Amino acid sequence: MDKNLLDDFLLQLKAAVGDAHVITHASDVEPYLVDEERRYQGHALCVVRPANTAEVSRVLALCYEAGIAVVPQGGNTGLCGGATPVTDTDAIVLALGRMNKIRSVDPLNNTMAVDAGCVLAAIQAAAAAADRLFPMSLGSEGSCQIGGNIATNAGGTAVLRYGPMRDLVLGIEAVLPDGRVIDAMRALRKDNTGYALKHLFIGSEGTLGVITGAVLQLFAKPRSEAVGLAGLNDIDAALQLLHDIQGRAGHRLTNFELLSAAQYELVMALPRKPDDPLSARHPWTAIVELTDPDPAASLDDELATLLYDAMEQGVITEGILATSQAQARQIWEIRHSVTEANHRAGRSLSHDTSVPVSRIPDFVREVEQQMAERFPIARLIFVGHAGDGNIHAEVILPRDSAEVKDLEQVAARINHTISEVAVSLGGSISAEHGIGRLRRAELHAWLNPTDLELMRGIKTLFDPKGLMNPGVIV
Ligand code: FAD
Ligand code: LAC
Ligand code: ZN
Repeated sequence: MDKNLLDDFLLQLKAAVGDAHVITHASDVEPYLVDEERRYQGHALCVVRPANTAEVSRVLALCYEAGIAVVPQGGNTGLCGGATPVTDTDAIVLALGRMNKIRSVDPLNNTMAVDAGCVLAAIQAAAAAADRLFPMSLGSEGSCQIGGNIATNAGGTAVLRYGPMRDLVLGIEAVLPDGRVIDAMRALRKDNTGYALKHLFIGSEGTLGVITGAVLQLFAKPRSEAVGLAGLNDIDAALQLLHDIQGRAGHRLTNFELLSAAQYELVMALPRKPDDPLSARHPWTAIVELTDPDPAASLDDELATLLYDAMEQGVITEGILATSQAQARQIWEIRHSVTEANHRAGRSLSHDTSVPVSRIPDFVREVEQQMAERFPIARLIFVGHAGDGNIHAEVILPRDSAEVKDLEQVAARINHTISEVAVSLGGSISAEHGIGRLRRAELHAWLNPTDLELMRGIKTLFDPKGLMNPGVIV
């Protein structure tokens, strides 16, 4: 962009949001230009930090007029490079962190209206303060923002019980690329007034506009909980255990997370490793949590019985019940340490496929076989949300191996292999992390042409100048 035009543009942005909130100094801009996985490095004219919806509207209108691209950024914890600008387009990063107000809580309606820049953990805390639960729970909850969660249709560990972000959003407020505001902040569970525009924004990854607010569903706060660990001999046994517990505990089953032995091993190799409650290593370990709003629910007894019966029937080989809240936290620490453990182990490539729950054993076996045949140098690990069919295949490559000369090329081939297995089993190449820049080419390869054409049409309708988050999704 021409220097005079740029100076003029920056002045207009400063007039819109205040001088202090247009960041131009290279070292201050730098953190906004790199993704969580340090895979992408982008370029931006500046970072703009608006304080409210009116400011977002003004900033977008200015960008629209000047033909400058906009990259919305929440907590920048996304795993697909979706919040990182590209290098070949003049763009601003629009960072939503100052928009962090809980607008209102309506406990009788079981809803909460929030700004998009609220950190997920702050929303969970505000719900708890109103004696309610906001159930979305991710390893990144201390820094990801609700706008980012909505834009990626985030999942996490409680989807089994409460559904992904799409199930938790009742209303939405968003700003279109030309500055017009969509005000659909309706706190309604029934609302059949034409096409549900909010659902287009959920999972849109900043490509249609900027989400500025949302009305979220709240739930009864759990007052009883029980957490256990189960050692399993094979993946079929894990499915059997899930099926049995679902059949008997119904909606009380809130989490069913699975770690392969290699994943468990890596966590236990961390310098500050979590306590290991198991007496032996098992091919698979399940973390099972039951919750109930009734403080008198005897969930410890219920989970103990479920694990005991599973042991009697030969479904599990070891069962542990947390006997204190501290021990329950220790069990969850094992799950929440996987990202750190995998990054320490080498160059870790994360996959985010899903298959119907009943096909998980086929998925695991087929991926194991294909990886052993085609990429023997890679270490294969499984971890994830078994209750949702979303088992992450984590592939660890040695950092400095001559066999992995072109990492991006090897990564793409591995990714294709794993996606192919998932798709062949009726699955999806992206379950909860999104498409971003990472999976764009792959999305286009897997989508059928009619779906892709419709998606392009929607993009053009919302963003005729193609200014919203170029390089992402379409
Ligand atoms: P960002 O990374 O800032 O942005 C993500 C995308 O959303 C980008 O395309 C961006 O342009 C867009 N965006 C952000 N805010 C807005 C907005 N207000 N309006 C429009 N577009 C916007 N994800 C899961 O689903 N499940 C998990 O279990 C999970 N665990 C994780 C654990 C760790 C340790 C880490 C680091 C990440 C994990 N993630 C998980 C991924 C990530 O935290 C989620 O994708 C999260 O929803 C991203 O939120 P964010 O605010 O950081 O978004
Ligand atoms: C997890 C993230 C990476 O499940 O999705 O740990
Ligand atoms: Zn996950």
